[in-house]
Amino acid sequence: MASAAMTTVSTGSIASYHAQAGLGTKSKPLGVNFGNKCCFKAFSGLKAALSINMEAETSFLGKESTFALQASLFPKLGASQKITNQLQPHAFQKITNQLQPHASTFKVAILGAAGGIGQPLALLIKMSPLVSALHLYDIANVKGVAADLSHCNTPSQVLDFTGPQELANCLKGVDVVVIPAGVPRKPGMTRDDLFNINANIVKTLVQAVADNCPDAFIHIISNPVNSTVPIAAEVLKQKGVYNPKKLFGVTTLDVVRANTFVAQKKNLKLIDVDVPVVGGHAGITILPLLSKTRPSTTFNDKEVEELTVRIQNAGTEVVEAKAGAGSATLSMAYAAARFVESSLRALDGDGDVYECTFIQSDLTELPFFASRVKLGKEGVEAVLSVDFQGLTEYEEKALEALKPELKASIEKGVAFVQKHPVASASAL
Ligand SMILES: NC(=O)c1ccc[n+]([C@@H]2O[C@H](COP(=O)([O-])OP(=O)(O)OC[C@H]3O[C@@H](n4cnc5c(N)ncnc54)[C@H](O)[C@@H]3O)[C@@H](O)[C@H]2O)c1
Repeated sequence: MASAAMTTVSTGSIASYHAQAGLGTKSKPLGVNFGNKCCFKAFSGLKAALSINMEAETSFLGKESTFALQASLFPKLGASQKITNQLQPHAFQKITNQLQPHASTFKVAILGAAGGIGQPLALLIKMSPLVSALHLYDIANVKGVAADLSHCNTPSQVLDFTGPQELANCLKGVDVVVIPAGVPRKPGMTRDDLFNINANIVKTLVQAVADNCPDAFIHIISNPVNSTVPIAAEVLKQKGVYNPKKLFGVTTLDVVRANTFVAQKKNLKLIDVDVPVVGGHAGITILPLLSKTRPSTTFNDKEVEELTVRIQNAGTEVVEAKAGAGSATLSMAYAAARFVESSLRALDGDGDVYECTFIQSDLTELPFFASRVKLGKEGVEAVLSVDFQGLTEYEEKALEALKPELKASIEKGVAFVQKHPVASASAL
């Protein structure tokens, strides 16, 4: 494995002292009294309930997991010491300052907003106090979704945009663009069967992103992610605006599933479990690193095999259960909302935002690879190689086994854009 240029600079989780204050999302937009728990619950959207005792627990990650991550990534300092330090009066003062009224600042666009993922994702993002404007784009049926959402009394303004002629306006000034546009998998379809339809959709939409908001974080949900992210990268390169630090394949659902299945299997508190999932986002390219589960958990060989296979095939579990009505939408929306939330926190200057995501990477010999990264204002600040130290034999083998398939999917995406360069793009 090639060594990755990386810096491990902070705690390895989503939670910061914002989280210790129960603030999984940012506190800034909340114009409420620090001591008023009820107000926080009502306003905080994705956040877990505030505890005046500063419980380290958010909607997305529990305190045990946070402490364990801190302990593993800050071995010298020790998690408890760090957290205790954070609760000293100066930290408390800082938190209090951040609870003063502020305007929400970020604009988020969802392309494919009227779909099975797009709608619940829009609802979850509408709940974020960090969002000032939510732009919903689709080729059809988005007006009603926007009208419906706009009645929710959360701060963001909801605007709808229908069809290619409105796409540029949708994207102007946007900070984060989320792309779930495309067709979902039907029973019997592999992710690669989707390729030709979704490749063209992603290519066309990313061209518009390049033209209208080239500095935005781009979150690609449309499958096959192993190919659509390289497609997006090629489009951005051809447009001369490629910034590899700001292009993300959303693999958060793999992490969410891994956390859920491990917690169930080992009877752990759900919110406390954190399993890094690396590689890619289809079949065997999805590699949960169970040996790196936090809090530290042991698995026998049978458990490792069963859990790994279940996490890899979890999408198919949903596709089959829906029996022709699509693929995962609600859990995907939850996972995508978590990734949006993390991106907004990073953009807002939080220094401890970590997520697994499929990005351009030098962690392995493959040009794109999913791993845990540190997010900052400029996108990926560091790729964490720490998860790859001390892999089990099973994980080492699985890592080698996934590479040919992942490599082929990446190459397929690159070849698609080379064959259909940006200049000859068909209309939306
Ligand atoms: N990354 C993941 O973990 C993950 C998980 C589940 C599904 N997915 C993928 O997400 C995508 C969407 O799934 P879904 O269930 O929401 O599908 P859906 O069919 O319910 O919704 C897709 C939406 O995209 C819209 N759309 C189609 N072409 C468009 C275009 N050119 N511009 C804008 N919008 C367009 C459609 O009108 C529709 O509203 C699929 O590709 C699916 O495979 C990814």
